[in-house]
Amino acid sequence: MLPWWIVLSLLRTQSNDAPVDTWDYTDTEAWGHRYPLCSGPLQSPIALRKDEASTAAPPRVVATAAAVEWEVEVRNTGRTIVMNMTYDPRSRETPRQAPIQLVSQQEPLFGTFDLGEVHFHFGNVSGNPGSVHAIGDRFFDAEVHFVFFDNSFESNDLAARVPGGCVVIAIPLNREGRYQRRQLPFPTLGLERRIEAVSARGDYFTYDVNLTNMREMLSVALRRVYMYSGSLTTPPCNPVVIWFVTAIETSVNAVFLDRLITGVYRDRDRRVLMGNNWRPLREKGNRTVYTVQSN
Ligand SMILES: *[C@@H]1O[C@H](CO)[C@@H](O)[C@H](O)[C@H]1NC(C)=O
Ligand SMILES: *[C@@H]1O[C@H](CO)[C@@H](O)[C@H](O)[C@H]1NC(C)=O
Ligand SMILES: *[C@@H]1O[C@H](CO)[C@@H](O)[C@H](O)[C@H]1NC(C)=O
Ligand SMILES: *[C@@H]1O[C@H](CO)[C@@H](O)[C@H](O)[C@H]1NC(C)=O
Repeated sequence: MLPWWIVLSLLRTQSNDAPVDTWDYTDTEAWGHRYPLCSGPLQSPIALRKDEASTAAPPRVVATAAAVEWEVEVRNTGRTIVMNMTYDPRSRETPRQAPIQLVSQQEPLFGTFDLGEVHFHFGNVSGNPGSVHAIGDRFFDAEVHFVFFDNSFESNDLAARVPGGCVVIAIPLNREGRYQRRQLPFPTLGLERRIEAVSARGDYFTYDVNLTNMREMLSVALRRVYMYSGSLTTPPCNPVVIWFVTAIETSVNAVFLDRLITGVYRDRDRRVLMGNNWRPLREKGNRTVYTVQSN
């Protein structure tokens, strides 16, 4: 295991952007050769179990006024479909404005965190699960990550170099109709109708979205969560993330999920489907998983 002084010096010096051709999901164990933090401490994902309790209240999700009409950029990076939430060109006068923020003034989180991006992990055409986290022994059809950055830093890039500088809200997703019981619906913002526009690596488009339902869903999802300290689940695997993984059952539109699995490619020429873009579970080690609950 890397000692922390090496971890901190790598965080300071290593770029946060792993170039597109330097890693893929075919050999996740090899990431550490090029990105040493990937074989370092506090890696994600892990299997979550109800082994510890905490009485702390979860953070609050707030929306800025612009959230009802916000221009997002949707892009195929070759590894995922990502919605860039810091994109809106109308917000350029104020250097960083976020449509959704996470605010907390008590343990375990202090400060204001800006939503930077939303991206997806999903399975393949064989119907395998595509979530990164497991709850107990159970994996899910897909998982969406809402990545927030501590806005007391000058940039998201700097926040991602400091332990605790990043918060990710992870929502494991069940394919709509898989279970009879009631589920919290994930608002796809009409992406299922536009996914073809980002089928090849490098494709992108922008559109206006109303994030009210997204904000609502996040508030509900945070009412019952697992919390632990971990890392980005992709190279360079910075161990800087406070994870909140919802314990609330959430469903995703089946057409959207099918189009991600069958219509999105990891290359420019649309030869290899993107599916199975998840990192296998890492050792939990001596980390504590807290359950955080509010009413
Ligand atoms: C999101 O868009 C902003 C503004 O165009 C850009 O500066 C930033 O690099 C983008 N982020 C990602 C992750 O692509
Ligand atoms: C789907 O992924 C599983 C591993 O999770 C693999 O065994 C299977 O071969 C994959 N199916 C296809 C069609 O690639
Ligand atoms: C945004 O969505 C919310 C919830 O669906 C709705 O009440 C509101 O009228 C919408 N606002 C705009 C400007 O479309
Ligand atoms: C967990 O283990 C690491 C070394 O593996 C050690 O540095 C750290 O202090 C331990 N943390 C706790 C809370 O025991």
